[in-house]
Amino acid sequence: MNKIPNHVAIIMDGNGRWATERGMSRSAGHKEGAKTLEKLAIYAQDKGIKVLSVYAFSTDNFKRSKEEVDYLMNLFIVYFKEKFDRVIKKNVKVLFSGRKVNLRSDVIDAMEEVTNKTKDNTGCILNICFNYGGQEEIVDASLKLFKDLNSKKIKEEDINKETFSKYLYQDLPPIDLLIRTGKEQRLSNFMLYESSYAELYFPDTYFPDFKENCLDEALKYYENRDRRFGNIKKD
Ligand code: FPP
Repeated sequence: MNKIPNHVAIIMDGNGRWATERGMSRSAGHKEGAKTLEKLAIYAQDKGIKVLSVYAFSTDNFKRSKEEVDYLMNLFIVYFKEKFDRVIKKNVKVLFSGRKVNLRSDVIDAMEEVTNKTKDNTGCILNICFNYGGQEEIVDASLKLFKDLNSKKIKEEDINKETFSKYLYQDLPPIDLLIRTGKEQRLSNFMLYESSYAELYFPDTYFPDFKENCLDEALKYYENRDRRFGNIKKD
């Protein structure tokens, strides 16, 4: 494949429906989704993708039942503390984007553990959007920028879209390919600033079934896109 995107992002939707359609609990769908993510992170690294961002838990997901939120938090802890070992051995570096408020201390500890364990890894970055909202990210960045303006760390004339992006949760390249599984076509408050020129891909697949061959299909779709960034095609 000639044209590999630097930054791929995935809205991992459809775990619940995948499970209920099989007569299983929604939790079983999340568990299967976690296995899929592990496979995809390793595959992304093998493919030469530089950054894989995934939507693991939105600020609005706290509206779900306590039972489902607790199940997800416990699943995240197990993955961050133990089950990402294969991913870590592959030299993947794990980062988190999102707010720490409202998170349980054992979840924060597990996030810090995996961040520290992988801080010197030089392979693909797995950016896990966790207690994340795209509008919240822009608000939080604006507040940080406002403080730096007030303390004269930055001058008004130096503010532009590139310097603003340094105030986001992570300093990452823009998203080239944004995939949403789960048979829906919306952004759901995911990485709004970073996806301004992203190619969008909506496979007819629930996330647990979105395996390596499905990522290959997405990469093929991307390879055939003509990206103009507002320009016109030159012959
Ligand atoms: C959306 O599907 C999925 C989530 C809210 C959770 C995503 C979590 C995982 C894939 C688990 C693994 C993650 C890590 C970081 C280990 P949904 O529940 O909204 O599905 P539905 O639309 O079919 O109900």
